[in-house]
Amino acid sequence: MPDKDLIEIKLSRIIPSQKWRVIRLITKVGEFPKYIPCVKEASVIQKSRNKMKTKWRIQVDKIPISWIEEDRLALSQNAIYFKAIEGDLEEFRGEWIFQDHPEGTKVTVNVYLKVGIPAIKSFADAYMKKLLTTNFESILNALERRLISVKYASYKSGDKTRIAGFGIVGHLYNFYHFEKCLKMLNPNFKMRSKEFMAQLFHVTPSFKLYDILDFTSKTNEKVNGCFIVSTFIPDMVEKDMWGIFSKVVKACKIAEKNGVGIVTLGGFTSIIAERVGQQIAAQVDVPLTTGNTFTAAMAIDGVVKAAELLNMDIDSAKVTIVGGTGDIGSACARVLVDEVRQLTITGRTKSNLRLLRQELAKKRKAEVIATTDNELAVKDSDIIIAAASVAASILKIDWFKPGSIICDLGYPKNVSYAPTPRRDILIFCGI
Ligand SMILES: NC(=O)c1ccc[n+]([C@@H]2O[C@H](COP(=O)([O-])OP(=O)(O)OC[C@H]3O[C@@H](n4cnc5c(N)ncnc54)[C@H](OP(=O)(O)O)[C@@H]3O)[C@@H](O)[C@H]2O)c1
Repeated sequence: MPDKDLIEIKLSRIIPSQKWRVIRLITKVGEFPKYIPCVKEASVIQKSRNKMKTKWRIQVDKIPISWIEEDRLALSQNAIYFKAIEGDLEEFRGEWIFQDHPEGTKVTVNVYLKVGIPAIKSFADAYMKKLLTTNFESILNALERRLISVKYASYKSGDKTRIAGFGIVGHLYNFYHFEKCLKMLNPNFKMRSKEFMAQLFHVTPSFKLYDILDFTSKTNEKVNGCFIVSTFIPDMVEKDMWGIFSKVVKACKIAEKNGVGIVTLGGFTSIIAERVGQQIAAQVDVPLTTGNTFTAAMAIDGVVKAAELLNMDIDSAKVTIVGGTGDIGSACARVLVDEVRQLTITGRTKSNLRLLRQELAKKRKAEVIATTDNELAVKDSDIIIAAASVAASILKIDWFKPGSIICDLGYPKNVSYAPTPRRDILIFCGI
């Protein structure tokens, strides 16, 4: 007869680590309070070859639960059995099971418990089931994080055997881009209401969209990677900065789970960290790059080549950098101030413009102008690097003077690309 008072909890998780590493970590019970927030006390009272007696105190939702349990390590079955012999619960036992999995180890925990308190039984049973489920979920989370951190620590100190490849974290430009991607996946997809789709997308966690297998570099090295979607569009950033920040952190953690050696933060995913004044790097173990230095180098290279192509003398050119006080814009400005006749930087924040103008003017090759007026700056320039971080375009195509060169490296784009008959300007997109 099944015991109707017995409460069951079953959880499982794929942990990206070898089985022996997972088992070794889980048997180091005394270390649990250091890295699992809900475990307040865990100590070994007695230990023999494959048996242990351990003492526990956990706290979830302000409820402390204590017990002493006997544990049996059954390595031939890849399992650990536990059973409380005294404590706050009438019955508390279960097993951890470890199975090889293509992505690491499948860890399953089966728990059976009875609270056994009359009068408040129906509430206490449901509540304890919830608390202990949270407890075991947080143990699984913490084990996974710990094993990933250890793997990256050894990678950073030179062990390249378990970490390789790259992760790209990106997002959709706007709602239209979202619709286009959905139709690419299913040409018959009929778009739903904007309100419905926006809210659904907002609550969707970041996810891996696809793997990039055998990517071959210019030096013929083969490497694997993956593309991860951080589920937001730039319009959402102002409304929920912290929510978007945690989506980007989550996306990096997905990349870590895939064991990549570096993550590149595309578009707004790097900018959001500056907005909330937090560093993504402090929350994850995987090395990160924004690609900003590379983008700045490519933009400069691009405008220099375009000038050669059009026989424009860069030495005597008037150059504007829209978003010139930003990370990429200021890098371009610091290089180009030594190369051109006049350099204009634009931005919204006057104090930043003032500070950078002062710094650049010290180099004295170019005449340096700082302004908040994009239109005025752009209209008079031979070369424009558009590097403003904006949710929607800010530069109209008819502002540019004939013969000008425009490098638009914004993501989303800084220039509005309405159909135009103009054939007298050269415009290209950064990288
Ligand atoms: N193509 C690529 O491969 C690639 C790679 C990386 C980044 N990006 C893109 O490059 C852009 C810049 O990135 P970042 O990291 O340099 O950003 P950032 O450090 O946040 O700088 C953004 C700059 O834009 C300025 N700005 C914002 N709104 C403006 C407006 N309405 N008019 C003029 N300036 C304005 C900001 O000035 P205030 O501070 O005064 O607002 C700041 O100077 C982003 O769109 C990013 O997505 C492209």
